[in-house]
Amino acid sequence: MLSPDGPGLRAAAACLAAGGLVAFPTETVYGLGADAASPAAVARIYQAKGRPAFNPLIAHVGNLAAAQAIGRFNDDATRLAEAFWPGPLTLVLPKAARCAVADLATAGLDTVAIRVPAHPVAQAILAAFGQPLVAPSANLSGHVSPTSAAHVQSDLSGRIDLIIDGGPVAVGVESTIVGCFDRPMLLRPGGLPRADIEAMLGRALAQPPADVAVDSSQPLAPGMLASHYAPRTRVRLNATSLEPNEALLAFGGASVRGQEAAAATLNLSPRGDVVEAATHLFSYLRELDARRAKTIAVMPIPSEGLGEAINDRLRRAAVERDFRKPREQ
Ligand code: TXA
Ligand code: MG
Repeated sequence: MLSPDGPGLRAAAACLAAGGLVAFPTETVYGLGADAASPAAVARIYQAKGRPAFNPLIAHVGNLAAAQAIGRFNDDATRLAEAFWPGPLTLVLPKAARCAVADLATAGLDTVAIRVPAHPVAQAILAAFGQPLVAPSANLSGHVSPTSAAHVQSDLSGRIDLIIDGGPVAVGVESTIVGCFDRPMLLRPGGLPRADIEAMLGRALAQPPADVAVDSSQPLAPGMLASHYAPRTRVRLNATSLEPNEALLAFGGASVRGQEAAAATLNLSPRGDVVEAATHLFSYLRELDARRAKTIAVMPIPSEGLGEAINDRLRRAAVERDFRKPREQ
């Protein structure tokens, strides 16, 4: 683990150039970066994360010009990029003719997901390396996304080469993904609220077909596995009362029946602010998971603004799985 100073950034660039894996902060969550053009480096990402190889990665670049070298921008895509980059927005576009991103990173699709992160440390690493980086969230596949360097270390220590510690992230949920097809489509709600995008475009975003989100073999938004972002503890949504031995993930100033007997309580935002709640979501899920309560009960959270992304992640965390891996000691 290194600081994002001169020596740290030089070590990161050298490691990436040698095909290594470097975790670094973005404004949304920590990413696990690798040289996008190197199939061997990309393969190491899948291996380190234990990630299904059909799940494609986001290419990160420093600016719009670098993005135009790997993706074909239509008018909507250009307008979105000019309005919201750098920032928590990923665009899915047809690959450019000489797209440098390895086929393994796009899972063989003829589209590529591109993002220009706003975080100064992500920008500094992209500038030092000088080429596109693929960077999924720096967690074990299916686990909660990391919002601090310590989260990365607890999931990936010994499996990756370097972590650049830039402190806790600002946004806390992953980027919003928009497919720039004939009509722009919301593939994943995220750190940029839908309403901001729709206001800029002057029309509503299309919805992906209902079955795509839960069928991992459909490549339209293949990251939308039903049971993503999952703690080990069972998650119960829209809790209005608490049963014995449940932990409470609270929101706002109200209380629920039985709260005094909670195994643990963390409040995403006592003042009921969804932006603040997003910054705490993944770290609080991790903390409550560690308490080994019977259930993590989650109070209702409004769906406006970043609430759409928060509720999307919580629904995935709450999907019943037919097995639970035994906890590690
Ligand atoms: O905020 C973020 O986006 C973070 C930071 C590190 O940048 N990254 C991130 O990456 O969340 P990841 O790998 O955890 O999620 C990438 C998502 C997946 O759902 C994947 O299926 C989708 O992007 N994706 C990538 N390429 C795609 C494509 N060509 N078509 C459709 N979906 C794509
Ligand atoms: Mg992820």
